[in-house]
This record gives sequence, C-alpha cells and structure tokens, in this order.
Amino acid sequence: MRLFSIIAAAASVVVISAKTLVGIPTFNFNVTSTAQFSLSKVTRVLVDSRFQNTVDSEGKTLIPPTLLAFAQTFASDLLELGLRVPVEVASSAQPGSIFLTISTSGVFLDAAGRNTSEGYTLTVGSQGVVIAGASPLGAFWGTRTLIQQATLGGMVLPIVLTLEQLDAGRHYYPPEFLIEICAYLSFFKQNTFHLHLSDNLFNNVDIYSRERSLDLYAAFRLNSNDSAVEGLVRPYRFNESYTREKFDDIQSSCAARGVTIIPELEAPGHALVIAQWKPDLALDDLSLLNISHPDTIPTMEAIWRTFLPWFHSKTVHIGADEYDSSLANDYILFVNTLSSFIRSSSGKDIRIWGTNEPSNTSTQGYNVLNSDDGFYIVGKFSGSYPQQLNITRIFEGNPAGGAFAPYVFDTNNATNNPPRNNPRVVGHIAAQWNDYGPNATTVSEAYYAWRNALPALADKQWGGVLTRAQYDAIFENLHSVIPGQNLDRAIVSKTDVILRYDFTTASGGKVTDSSGNGYDGTCLACSISNGTVSLSSPSSRLTTPLSSKGRNYTLSFSINPSSKAPIGASILSGPDSALVLGNGTLPNLALISGNQPYVLNYTLPRDVWTDVALIGRGNATFLRAGGGPEMQFLAILGINGDSFEWKPVAVEAPLAQIGGNGFLGSVAKFELLGSA
Ligand SMILES: *[C@@H]1O[C@H](CO)[C@@H](O)[C@H](O)[C@H]1NC(C)=O
Ligand SMILES: *[C@@H]1O[C@H](CO)[C@@H](O)[C@H](O)[C@H]1NC(C)=O
Ligand SMILES: *[C@@H]1O[C@H](CO)[C@@H](O)[C@H](O)[C@H]1NC(C)=O
Ligand SMILES: *[C@@H]1O[C@H](CO)[C@@H](O)[C@H](O)[C@H]1NC(C)=O
Ligand SMILES: *[C@@H]1O[C@H](CO)[C@@H](O)[C@H](O)[C@H]1NC(C)=O
Ligand SMILES: *[C@@H]1O[C@H](CO)[C@@H](O)[C@H](O)[C@H]1NC(C)=O
Ligand SMILES: *[C@@H]1O[C@H](CO)[C@@H](O)[C@H](O)[C@H]1NC(C)=O
Ligand SMILES: *[C@@H]1O[C@H](CO)[C@@H](O)[C@H](O)[C@H]1NC(C)=O
Ligand SMILES: *[C@@H]1O[C@H](CO)[C@@H](O)[C@H](O)[C@H]1NC(C)=O
Ligand SMILES: *[C@@H]1O[C@H](CO)[C@@H](O)[C@H](O)[C@H]1NC(C)=O
Ligand SMILES: *[C@@H]1O[C@H](CO)[C@@H](O)[C@H](O)[C@H]1NC(C)=O
Ligand SMILES: *[C@@H]1O[C@H](CO)[C@@H](O)[C@H](O)[C@H]1NC(C)=O
Repeated sequence: MRLFSIIAAAASVVVISAKTLVGIPTFNFNVTSTAQFSLSKVTRVLVDSRFQNTVDSEGKTLIPPTLLAFAQTFASDLLELGLRVPVEVASSAQPGSIFLTISTSGVFLDAAGRNTSEGYTLTVGSQGVVIAGASPLGAFWGTRTLIQQATLGGMVLPIVLTLEQLDAGRHYYPPEFLIEICAYLSFFKQNTFHLHLSDNLFNNVDIYSRERSLDLYAAFRLNSNDSAVEGLVRPYRFNESYTREKFDDIQSSCAARGVTIIPELEAPGHALVIAQWKPDLALDDLSLLNISHPDTIPTMEAIWRTFLPWFHSKTVHIGADEYDSSLANDYILFVNTLSSFIRSSSGKDIRIWGTNEPSNTSTQGYNVLNSDDGFYIVGKFSGSYPQQLNITRIFEGNPAGGAFAPYVFDTNNATNNPPRNNPRVVGHIAAQWNDYGPNATTVSEAYYAWRNALPALADKQWGGVLTRAQYDAIFENLHSVIPGQNLDRAIVSKTDVILRYDFTTASGGKVTDSSGNGYDGTCLACSISNGTVSLSSPSSRLTTPLSSKGRNYTLSFSINPSSKAPIGASILSGPDSALVLGNGTLPNLALISGNQPYVLNYTLPRDVWTDVALIGRGNATFLRAGGGPEMQFLAILGINGDSFEWKPVAVEAPLAQIGGNGFLGSVAKFELLGSA
C-alpha cells in the first residue's frame, strides 16, 4: 500500500517553479485551493455517461479504447495499489469520486504548440477529483498523473508526444514481455512502441560464403498460414514468431494502456530472411534485395497484403534503411511503390529510416521523427554505440544549453537544429538494437538497458522541465508503483530473507517457508525428513508460489544429485530461466534463459552434498560451489563472424520449482535473499 494523498496546495511536494510540479513527465498546474483530498476517501471511479463510448480518433491506433474501457484499466491499477473501487457510469461527479470526462471547451496544445488529443486537466477538490481529457486517451494520461502524484503526494495539468522502439528482428521477445514493456512506457505517457519485426545479423560478405549467409540468423516474426507467405517463417522458428492471435493480443493489451504498436517489416536492406526464402530476389550481398528483379516488388507487396490486415495502427514502417547508395533510383522506386501500395490498399501512412538514403535529389518536404544516434543503443556490446541510454545527454544534451528535446538532432552544434516549434518534427524515438543476435542478451536485459533513463527521456519528449536531481529523488519511488508489470521480477518480502525452506516438518506435502513471508511450497512425489527433501522419481518436484527473482539475489542451497539423474535434468526452473545439471551431452552446470544456455566450466559432483549459491548481482550472474570462488556465467558474443566478446549476463533466479524435469537427488537449506 502506498501513500495516497493528493494535496491541492503544493505544500509537501517538490515544486520546480510556481507552476510546475515534479512527476515523470513534469506538468504545469495552478493552485486553486489549499484544501486537501486524500485518495483513501475515493469510493468509486465514475465515467461521464455522455462520453462512456467515446474514442480518440486522433492517435495512431485503430483500436482506441473507450473512456469506459480506460476507466476499467485505471480501476485495476488502483487495485494493484491496494484501493478497491468500482467503476460506474454517471452524469456528474459525486463526493468521493474520481470523475472521468471529456473536455468540451479546453484547447490542449503539445510542447510544439500543436493541438493534441492527449492533453487533460486534472482538478482536485475537497470532495473528489475530476479528470477531463481532450480525448479518452488524454483522460487516461491524467490517471497516470494522479497515480504518480498520489505516490509522491501532490497535484495537476497537461501536454504531449513520444516514442520508443525495440529491435525484435534479431532477438525474439515473448508477447508477455512486450505487454509489460507497454505498461512501463504508458506510466510515463509514452504513446508509441515501434516493433522491428524482421532482420538478420550483419552479413559479413568479406568472410561468409553464400552458404553461410543462407544459414545466418535471420528472422521474420509474424507467422501467417496464408499460402502467399508460406515458408517465410521456417517451422523451426515458429517458436520465435507471433501468430495473428498473439499479435492481436499484444496490440490490444498495449492499446488498453494508450500505447500504439507501430510494426516494421524491413526491406530492401536488412532483408536476408526474404533472400533465405527466395534467394533469386537478392543481390550478391544476400541481405540486400535486387529491386530490378521483376518478382521483388510483387513479393514485398504480397507480404504487406498478407499482414496489413493484422495491423491496428494508422502508420506502418517499411524499413528502407542502409541500402546500397549507388542504387538510388531503385531505392526511390521501391519506397514510392510500396508507399502507394500500402496507402491504396489500407489507407495507412508509411515511415522509413533515413540512414544512407541513397539520393541527393531533393524532394518535397516530409515529417521527421527524430531517431538520431544520440539515444541509439546496442545490446551488450558495440564498437561504437553505448549499451544503455545516456542519462547525462538527456538532462544536458541541448547544444544551446539545457536538456535534450525532440528538435535536437545535433547534440554538439545548435545551428544545425530546427526551432522547437518546427511543425515537421513530430517527435522523438529511442532505438534499441540487437546487432549480436539472440545469444548476446536475455529478454529482460533489453528492459534494463532502458529502465533507469527512459522515464527521464519521456519527460524531455513531453517538453518537461525535470532536473536530474529531481528525477533521482523520485524515480525509484514512482518505479515501484508502475501498474501492469513486474519487469524487475521483484518479490514482496518483510526482510532480506525472501524464502527459507528448512525441511524440518512436512504435512500433506506442504513445505513451510520460515522467512515469515508465507511462501510455502508443495511437494509432489517427494519426501521430507531430517532437513532434506528427496526427489526420487523423474516427476518428483517441489513447487513454490514464486516464479523468478530479478536483480539482486542470492539463492543458496545444499544439493546431492544422484548419479542416476540424467545430464539434462533441471535443478530449478521458472518462467524466465532454468538451472540445469548439463545440456544433455555435456555435464557442465548451465543457466538457460530464452532457450540459450550460459555454461560454466564446472560440473556438480554426484552422490555427495555440495553447498551452492546462485548470485545475481547487477548485470552479472555467478555461482559459488563447495566454498570455492565465484564463477561467472558469460555470454559469448560472435562479432560478425570475425571475433568473440565475453560479456556478463544477468539471468533471473528460477524459483517456480525444484526438480520436476528428471532431476533425482536431495536438496536442503534452501534460502533466497534479496541482496547479493
Ligand atoms: C492557470 O492559470 C493561467 C493564468 O491565470 C490560465 O491561463 C490557465 O488557463 C490556468 N490553467 C488551468 C488549467 O486552470
Ligand atoms: C486548435 O483547435 C482549436 C479549436 O478546435 C482552434 O480554434 C485552434 O485554432 C487550433 N489551434 C492550432 C494551433 O491548431
Ligand atoms: C489459418 O489460421 C487461421 C487463424 O489462426 C485459422 O482460422 C485458419 O483455419 C488457418 N487456416 C489453415 C488453412 O490452416
Ligand atoms: C555492467 O555493469 C558494470 C558496473 O555496474 C558496468 O561497468 C558495465 O558497463 C556493465 N556492462 C554491461 C554489458 O552493461
Ligand atoms: C553521454 O552524453 C554526454 C553528453 O552528451 C557525453 O559527454 C558523454 O560522453 C556520453 N557518455 C557516454 C558513455 O557515451
Ligand atoms: C555548426 O554547424 C554550422 C552549420 O552546419 C557550421 O557552419 C559550423 O561550422 C558548425 N560549427 C562547429 C563548431 O562545428
Ligand atoms: C540428520 O541430519 C543430520 C545433519 O545433517 C545428520 O548428522 C544425521 O545423521 C541425520 N540423521 C538421519 C537419521 O539421517
Ligand atoms: C551441449 O553443448 C555442446 C558444446 O556446446 C554441444 O556440442 C552439444 O551439441 C550440446 N548438446 C545439446 C544436446 O544441446
Ligand atoms: C526455437 O527453436 C529453435 C530450434 O529448436 C531453437 O534453436 C531456439 O533456441 C528456440 N527459440 C526459443 C526462443 O525458444
Ligand atoms: C575448465 O576447468 C578445468 C579444470 O579446472 C581446466 O583444466 C580447463 O582448462 C578449463 N577449461 C576452460 C575452457 O576454461
Ligand atoms: C545490485 O548490486 C549492484 C552491485 O553491487 C549494485 O550496484 C546495485 O545497486 C544493486 N541493485 C539493487 C536493486 O540492489
Ligand atoms: C552466439 O551466436 C554467434 C552467432 O552470432 C556465434 O558465433 C556464437 O558462437 C554463439 N555463442 C554461443 C555461446 O553459442
């Protein structure tokens, strides 16, 4: 349960200037009274009956939630925070209500002075709260402000814009993860999540044979059974792709929180997956399509014809990045043809990247979404780009002085930047790439690359004026209440000891947690005596009510694996990871995450007891066994077929069950700490 008081006067809150209140992003407000209103007095969320079915038609989504649907999401968020209130439809605000309505008189402008449907007013009175959005989406952003201020203790008002992007082309992300990321973005009012859905590892033509290129990691993440694209997703990659139903679920779950998925299918560069499907359509560098081939554009049209009906956004991204700059005419033909095709068949707009656009012919003006290198990150390693967002640049990145803003394209030379209110600058996007493929990073490492700085960037994308010191003072507090996600894989605990199974008592298969948190386990086909649990059949297992623990943790236990246990058996498993005795042929202890093994040069001895500690410390993971030194799990990155880099890897502790996948043996003194 968090602090729940909304104070109309800014008495106990941090005020930046007379009219700006700290939050992420910051917003302007007017003090209208000195009265106080506590959220504990709220008895219901009321939705204005005139607008309950109203939807926002201005945003990028084609599946905008109604005001009533947003109110229901808001009420479920309040429940997560410990406040259970019903949602009702009413004609006006009532004492004790949070009344959600649509403003019929207000004009809402974004940071560049444009009209926006994402603005809102939030008025706190002694009897309740009224949130009036420029649209239902605006009202939902108002509820984010309310949760933030209830957490920090404060009050009111508007503004807009924004974008994030993640490279899913070279790394598969499970739908649940993407939905949690949307919840994260939404809390800071970031309204667009660009998903890069096809790509390949760098095709190093200086080194690779044609055969090796045809075998290089390349993926297309949308899996349709339409015969027009049969074979585009190979059967062994079905486990790394989204069916229409899954992709619908991602889009609608994100839309429910005001976040629109913008899908990208990349061509004519970064298109090795298409060449692996139809090798005749490629140039000598198989990652580039040969636009002069008569089947190339029709093939791309067939792909778009198949997938356009899947997309619930007004805009789609066709890639068009890093093509051969000597083929400018082909490139222009490609972009223009696909743009017309997509517009005429779906009414959607397109976006393209701007790197190496192989043309020096000037054309008419176009809108620009700032995706400059300043906030371009590459997972785990890069010869030239950072691995996480640069927070200094966020707060100091304007060469004219002050913080970064979407109109800053050049962070060194102010004369190269357009004015703040240039109407052609439609926002800013921070991109995260997976240049070194699926085995370089775990799924959650993509989140950690953004975790600490993305909300600060959101403030700047919205035109906020938060300082670094203010951000540092409120970030962790706000982070701890973000609804709809638990990306940190945090576990509620009374003390640093989260879970402890002593195995001293057993009744009806129940294993008592002596930590005080009550995370009792259940033993199936196992026996407990004298401080140990014995798993004597391949289906024996001990399940816990927990799933995973993220940074930081120490999971210690004693283990006596039977020599009869198969090499591939798992000691511990959970939704994000598993600790296995070996991989089936090699007996080296390994952690598995996203189906990638991270292997130690260590084998657990059989038929004797060994004390083991699995340690997650910051961005690294270690194992200590038998009182020996800490051994580190490492990701071995293959750099463009040319070299290797060993980097730390952060894997969540697997907690859902002990044994169960063939493990035979005994375990004792099982304890999880929240520190390392
Ligand atoms: C806040 O006060 C200013 C100046 O009086 C006024 O222009 C503005 O509309 C007010 N905003 C709200 C939300 O009342
Ligand atoms: C915004 O919309 C209002 C009312 O719809 C209109 O009067 C005003 O001119 C618009 N302002 C801008 C900057 O477009
Ligand atoms: C293709 O997929 C759709 C949606 O999942 C399903 O309804 C349809 O039966 C499938 N068609 C074939 C031929 O498998
Ligand atoms: C891991 O964390 C350390 C120290 O916190 C930092 O120096 C290093 O850059 C990080 N490594 C990666 C790959 O993020
Ligand atoms: C972060 O950005 C600042 C300001 O632009 C720059 O001076 C610094 O070198 C950057 N740090 C890294 C690690 O790139
Ligand atoms: C800044 O950019 C302008 C225009 O491109 C250029 O004329 C000037 O030399 C640049 N200044 C510096 C210090 O690089
Ligand atoms: C019970 O465990 C203790 C300590 O681990 C050990 O010394 C003792 O021999 C065990 N007793 C039985 C009956 O296994
Ligand atoms: C186990 O790992 C070794 C070395 O990486 C590999 O050669 C072998 O194929 C793996 N076995 C399985 C079953 O994955
Ligand atoms: C999908 O299956 C392939 C082939 O078995 C495997 O290499 C890959 O790691 C799997 N991917 C995931 C995310 O499980
Ligand atoms: C693994 O450990 C053994 C014994 O400690 C050592 O001889 C061997 O060189 C190590 N192998 C690697 C690849 O580090
Ligand atoms: C985890 O440990 C690292 C390294 O000791 C430390 O920098 C970091 O603050 C810790 N994180 C948490 C959430 O305690
Ligand atoms: C990871 O994948 C790369 C290919 O990108 C390969 O070179 C490297 O050996 C792989 N690492 C491991 C540990 O399998």
